[in-house]
Amino acid sequence: MATTPSQLADPGTLLSTTHAVGETRVRLRLTRPSDALRVRSFLEGLSPETRRRRFMAAMPGVSDTVVRHFTFYDPRSRLVVAATAPIDGVETVVGLADIVHLGTGLAELAVVVGDDHQGAGAGKLLTEVIAALALQQGATHLKAELLDDNHAMLALMERLGPTARTIEDGSSVVYTKLPQQRRRAA
Ligand SMILES: CC(C)(COP(=O)(O)OP(=O)(O)OC[C@H]1O[C@@H](n2cnc3c(N)ncnc32)[C@H](O)[C@@H]1OP(=O)(O)O)[C@@H](O)C(=O)NCCC(=O)NCCS
Repeated sequence: MATTPSQLADPGTLLSTTHAVGETRVRLRLTRPSDALRVRSFLEGLSPETRRRRFMAAMPGVSDTVVRHFTFYDPRSRLVVAATAPIDGVETVVGLADIVHLGTGLAELAVVVGDDHQGAGAGKLLTEVIAALALQQGATHLKAELLDDNHAMLALMERLGPTARTIEDGSSVVYTKLPQQRRRAA
């Protein structure tokens, strides 16, 4: 069972350092419009099963709309973080997490890690940084939609805080209460 932190890490620290993911050194950063090709190539490289788990539907091709979803956003309402690594000397996306603020403290999170890097801690890093950013922007709870057998995603949400599972419109959904933000000393 995952342990729940009393405090999330500082997003600034997570975004300013590199992290070991297996043998790979990974950097976390917000995406930008110039990432379109990198994001497209990451999404096109995902296995059908990984795409299905992220998008809750079979997704045979990667449309421009999907690429734009991950590269253009208004940071007041939505954020996208990429985990990148230098592969053959080229900065490559190995995972993406996005969050959308739904209002009244609730933000919906989704995350995907490339098949070659799953199970090595990238999902943990991505969910932690995006949750910490959401918290900084006023979120108190996170929501995620997931397939019933997605134990890895459930484990990731449970690491962030107390998590409850429910069914909405026939889909499995989890809600996680984020730890309260520590007030800065004056
Ligand atoms: C879900 C996903 C993001 C997890 O990322 P990851 O990098 O593979 O996960 P991590 O290596 O950081 O491991 C996270 C936790 O999941 C656990 N885990 C990983 N794979 C697991 C599996 N197959 N079964 C059960 N738990 C698993 C790990 O043990 C870890 O938990 P712990 O800290 O309690 O040990 C990744 O598998 C993925 O992209 N899946 C497809 C897309 C998807 O399902 N997205 C979620 C819906 S939005």
